[in-house]
Amino acid sequence: MSSSDLVWWQHCVVYQLYVRSFSDANGDGIGDLEGIRRRLPYLADLGVDAIWLNPCYPSPQADHGYDISDYFDIDPDYGDLAAFDAMLADARALGIRIIMDVVPNHCSDQHPWFVEAVAAGPGSPDRERFYFRDGRGPNGDQPPNNWRSIFGGPAWDRVVEPDGSLGQWYLHVFAPQQPDLNWRHPDVPESFDEMLRFWFDRGVDGIRADAVIHLGKAPGLADEVVPEGMVAPEIGGQNLQYTWQEEGHIAWKRWRRTVDQYLTENPDREVFIVAEADSGGSQEVLLQYVNESEFHQSFAFDLMKSTWKASSMRRAIDMVLASTLPFGHAPAWTMNNHDAQRSVTRYGRVDAATYGEGGMNNLDPSTAPVDLAVGTRRALAAALLELALPGSAYLYAGEELGLPEVLDLPAEVRQDPVFHRSGGNNPGRDGCRVPLPWTSDPSNSYGFSMVSTTIPAWIPQPAGWEQWSVDQQLADTESSLAVYTRALQCRSESPDLHTLDFSWLDLGAADALAFRRGEMVVVCNIGEEDLALGPAVVGDRTVRVSSAVGRGSGTSVPGNTTVWLR
Ligand code: GLC
Repeated sequence: MSSSDLVWWQHCVVYQLYVRSFSDANGDGIGDLEGIRRRLPYLADLGVDAIWLNPCYPSPQADHGYDISDYFDIDPDYGDLAAFDAMLADARALGIRIIMDVVPNHCSDQHPWFVEAVAAGPGSPDRERFYFRDGRGPNGDQPPNNWRSIFGGPAWDRVVEPDGSLGQWYLHVFAPQQPDLNWRHPDVPESFDEMLRFWFDRGVDGIRADAVIHLGKAPGLADEVVPEGMVAPEIGGQNLQYTWQEEGHIAWKRWRRTVDQYLTENPDREVFIVAEADSGGSQEVLLQYVNESEFHQSFAFDLMKSTWKASSMRRAIDMVLASTLPFGHAPAWTMNNHDAQRSVTRYGRVDAATYGEGGMNNLDPSTAPVDLAVGTRRALAAALLELALPGSAYLYAGEELGLPEVLDLPAEVRQDPVFHRSGGNNPGRDGCRVPLPWTSDPSNSYGFSMVSTTIPAWIPQPAGWEQWSVDQQLADTESSLAVYTRALQCRSESPDLHTLDFSWLDLGAADALAFRRGEMVVVCNIGEEDLALGPAVVGDRTVRVSSAVGRGSGTSVPGNTTVWLR
């Protein structure tokens, strides 16, 4: 398929932007939309096609925006609708599109629907928009079933009834502040249809749909069967009663009809939806979500979760390509996001070649020692591998700087419910959400705050954060930022990389991956030793981009390095 057959979102580079941590224009220590607007030239120079904003709607921030109390507005921490419109207009002028994050599985416990449901009391129709149930046991003080929350602890909490008594239980697959919505209630799908149109009408070009595999619950809300030798808490978020349910597909088909209808009514637009749909490595499950009547695309988490081993990475890539390319679908690759430890740290773990063989769980990272120098080389090599694969690529803010995970945040600054609900046993996701360093000067949180302020960043940055700062990297042609910028430029100038053409090349080396994209040859040397390339591979090609700046040559690839040759 040639580039003319693909739509923009099938071959674009998206920059995922954790709004709270990107750039703070008003000096309150929290990133905001005006901060993004003023940094758009940086993103244009980097060469991204679109930005995905993590949820920036009004929210009590119990899960940093994934608990939404109003789907039709902007949180005052980040600005307002006028600031959103201004940011979108400037982005568009620079050729950058906007993707919004929509959270359909649950809302905030401060959403008017939930507040009204609690106030209306048991048996009221308002409660039917959620999963309210009486408790078990003679006093109703046992949860309605044995389900556990993905964030730890029971998936049920009790409300205080209007008369002050402890009353019914409600379901929350994530934190207690995130009550699950009942999609069988007609108000729920209707409201989301309205929401999609509201943001498309404002100029948004795409939607990232959150936690789609958890929407819909097994009828009857029966106990999850606990495998022999296990106790309920050990099942954690692996509960199949609230994962991959048929009911979810009814909702997604309706979303797709809404989007298709929108496209028919607005022939000049090219909006789409990318799903956060972890298929657990199953091609069959993935295809249930990505098809002509549900989502356009899904993140290819399998590669991100793969160990640093050529055979595992190839298996992951093959699985993703087999479930997309034959159907004319384009994968959405990603190596980093706001839920996972940063790739520099993941790949720097001494057990990176073995940890979580067969699928690392984002919320359960390795604790092995980290070699940052090795991790940095591998993460850059992985990024160049990702950026050369057919499909689109989603980068996560800060990865272009080679930021590592901040592992030693003190408990008192950690905010993630995953940390708190696990009693501190799981570090949670704050370490990949530390605000970006823009300048080498530590004042104003290394330039994260764009005005002079004494208010610290919402998650404190560690000492030494300046070594990854944007200003230093802009001045260094061998920096991680420089490599990303060259790669994005080369990608944009290479029509071969805008197609879905792909074929593996056999180099006869167990520790390497190599493939062709048209005239482009890509070699990723996962091993430690230099890899010699024969004339048959190189031909008259030269190295266009290398993740090991200044090392290697056209005929040999250093360890932990990816090169693009053409
Ligand atoms: C998704 C988001 C994650 C959030 C969860 C609940 O997995 O990526 O950040 O905590 O859903 O909304």
